[in-house]
Amino acid sequence: MLQLAIEAALEAGAFLKSSVGKIQQIERKLGQETNLVTEIDRRSEEIIINKIKRKYPDHDFLAEESGSHEKGSEYRWIIDPLDGTLNFAHGVPLYSVSIGLEVKGELTLGVVYEPNLQELFIAEKGRGASLNKSPIHVSKISTLIESLMVTGFPYTIKQNPDNAVQHFVNFLMQAQGVRRLGSAAVDICYVACGRFEGFWEVALSPWDMAAGVLIAQEAGGRFTDFHGRASTIYTKRVLVTNGLIHDKVVEVLQRGLETRQRTEC
Ligand code: IPD
Ligand code: CA
Ligand code: CA
Repeated sequence: MLQLAIEAALEAGAFLKSSVGKIQQIERKLGQETNLVTEIDRRSEEIIINKIKRKYPDHDFLAEESGSHEKGSEYRWIIDPLDGTLNFAHGVPLYSVSIGLEVKGELTLGVVYEPNLQELFIAEKGRGASLNKSPIHVSKISTLIESLMVTGFPYTIKQNPDNAVQHFVNFLMQAQGVRRLGSAAVDICYVACGRFEGFWEVALSPWDMAAGVLIAQEAGGRFTDFHGRASTIYTKRVLVTNGLIHDKVVEVLQRGLETRQRTEC
């Protein structure tokens, strides 16, 4: 199954790369003016699902563009066929394909492929994580002021859910720097391989994080909600760090949430 996921990710990634500048249809999702979907997102998803279905016709799928296909299987593939659609649509070469697999509800494998740098991140539950076949590990930095953080913003940012802008400001003030790359799957994998110390986002979907979360955990990282409690990929607020800065990051996030409560009062 891992080999199949790798082949599907590589094939979809090559398709995305060859489709840059060739988008013909851009639609706005759910009436949100900045949430785009193109025929390239849909085609990439078909490539992945068709490939897996040919071998495993009875497996379940949860995929961003076609939703949930449930057959009552123990196996559930969780797919983002193009993570970073806005970058892709503007010709920014940073986007990815993300494929995770749950077995009986437990994340067991994750593959994220970034086709421009040709970086393939892989994890299998209990067997570690790798980048282009070399083992990876989170960084050893233990202070926030030495940490490079990364985040993303939901398409509903104008409503500023969960004080997303305030968290960004707070980390700018407390960390060494903050980045916003535009692909949550890549963000989380960059924590896994030690390029970033931590990632948070206020409203992600399971397909954005399924593969990345397993890759980060297998690389020694910690994944929780904003309170530092054990989380799942079905919880919107996501925090992934190298573990060493985790409690400090939780404190900063709590302060951001409290600011919101005070504003609401
Ligand atoms: C988006 C990206 C982005 C994150 C958004 C996601 P999409 O996914 O991962 O970095 O900030 O919340 O929705 O729409 O490009 O697949
Ligand atoms: Ca996504
Ligand atoms: Ca997507």
